[in-house]
Amino acid sequence: MCGIIGYCGNNGKASSIIFEGLKKMEYRGYDSSGVAMLSGDGLVVKKGVGTLEEVNKKYKLDKMPGYMGIGHTRWATHGGVTQINTHPHCDCKNQIAVIHNGIVDNYQELRDDLIKKGHHLISETDTEVIPHKLEDEMKMGRSLEEAVMHVAPRLHGSYAFLAISTKEPNKIVGTRKGSPLVVGLGDHKAFAASDSLALSGLIDQLYLLGDGETAVLTPDKTTFYDHTGREIHKKFIKPDVMWGESEKGGYDYFMLKEIMEQPKTLIEATNQDEENFTSIALDILRADHVIVTACGSSRYAALVGRYLISSVGKKFAEVVMASEFQYFADSVDKNTLVLAVSQSGETLDVIEGVQLAHKAGAKIVSIINRPQSLLGELSHHVIYLNCGPEIGVCATKSFLNQVAVFYLLAFSMVHCFDMAVDNIRKVGKQVSKVIDWNREEINRICERYYKKNDFYFIARGINFAIASEGALKLKEISYIHAEGMPAGELKHGTLSLIEEGTPVLAICPGDYTYRETLSNAMEAKSRGAKIIAVSDENNEIYDHWIRLPKVHELLYPIVAVVPLQLLAYYMAIKRGHNPDMPRNLAKSVTVK
Ligand code: G6P
Repeated sequence: MCGIIGYCGNNGKASSIIFEGLKKMEYRGYDSSGVAMLSGDGLVVKKGVGTLEEVNKKYKLDKMPGYMGIGHTRWATHGGVTQINTHPHCDCKNQIAVIHNGIVDNYQELRDDLIKKGHHLISETDTEVIPHKLEDEMKMGRSLEEAVMHVAPRLHGSYAFLAISTKEPNKIVGTRKGSPLVVGLGDHKAFAASDSLALSGLIDQLYLLGDGETAVLTPDKTTFYDHTGREIHKKFIKPDVMWGESEKGGYDYFMLKEIMEQPKTLIEATNQDEENFTSIALDILRADHVIVTACGSSRYAALVGRYLISSVGKKFAEVVMASEFQYFADSVDKNTLVLAVSQSGETLDVIEGVQLAHKAGAKIVSIINRPQSLLGELSHHVIYLNCGPEIGVCATKSFLNQVAVFYLLAFSMVHCFDMAVDNIRKVGKQVSKVIDWNREEINRICERYYKKNDFYFIARGINFAIASEGALKLKEISYIHAEGMPAGELKHGTLSLIEEGTPVLAICPGDYTYRETLSNAMEAKSRGAKIIAVSDENNEIYDHWIRLPKVHELLYPIVAVVPLQLLAYYMAIKRGHNPDMPRNLAKSVTVK
């Protein structure tokens, strides 16, 4: 949550470079944004509420004069979405500006102390204490970097922040603990940002800042310090060109683009190192307990994965919601294997659970999309999803590739990796068919039901998690209440909510779940429900039929989820919402 970027260079277009970087990080938060620039006129801050585009229209963030500056796109945690709470925040004299991603847990205490000392704080944010603390340190004669290194250890919680000051107008200082921050260097230019994606095409060297480390950026020299203040030499990595691509490619929204590219990205999921899979598969088989931890869509992919590991690999695995993982930490030991699933690799709940498991001696295997993530650093083995940047807040192609990776992993447990790769490659073509066959029918369904307040999604067995994922997609972006549940559970409560015209979406492919799911759909229909079926077989009880191709029963989740993504997408459009930026949400959740 929140994207931060700093830039200094010998290039006159500093504010437009910062603005372009913010655009690429808007997925991290988009309720308000702001930029602080240093120029001959001192420190100038412009900020406002709304999407980046809206704020830019009003304040011309991309045309601000100045040779260096910092920019922020916000997902509010402490303090409402108001202009005053928008970053950057300044000290009493407007000489220091700070942008921050994370939460300063002890901000109240620090704030009270600052107010007692006579500081004038104007916002409700936790962040604002940072520039005021820096002000005190600099008043004592410390340089900006010394001030940052003194203040950072006094902040509890998680942070990545950047600071600039009119007193030392040639540098940007950044530090982090718990929240991501990378440094990128190009020809006479230096950047710091929450995500290397913001720097794509601009840098030749990428540095990952470690917990407690500080970077001092100037156009010609960047210096790194460890948590004790000792200068350190860090190794750079070559920026990954694949992560440069983050354009809509002719589509109206990233989400649609990402749905449509799934037949291709699914193939990328199979480009894996077989040895890595074999060694992880053996670890899974040897472990006393296998725990899969994840949030949101990644957790639903994990639920499909658990099923695959059980039915193919004959090993029971428990899926624990990452935000609840800490409460089970007592039963984790060195004989436990923790599989952490996260598109971003930076979801704080996942990271904190994994840290606890790590301490308890568990083996950590992660399934991640983003390269160079915090989660990757904590893991003994990493499997990458290879689906490239996913910008839409809704997980689409990353979900499909997570399911594909679980499929490969489950078959690696029985030494059938190659066969699994072939099967996934073939199913890519079936995904294209599902899209072609159903776009029109899905649009008709949206036309018919877009005014409904409630949707129910049901399925059984391996498809149950797809019902939950479909419901999550719909509520996230169309703001229609939706519930996904095992079809057999409908009669244990939810059936009482079904009335004349209530849409019930049943995933009932012609596999071992067909008869029973159909019979649960009939129970709903008898109470007035309209049945939208996702199946490879038509049936007279369906009011609408979303047609699936026939595939092997373990591959139905891959073909069945795609029309549900399209349903959510078209429903959001029909109801007039931007599917890429659902209200109150963000793609990377780096707070608890
Ligand atoms: C947020 C996103 C979801 C995502 C979840 C987990 O809530 O909006 O789309 O599934 O985080 O993210 P992760 O990066 O850990 O997979």
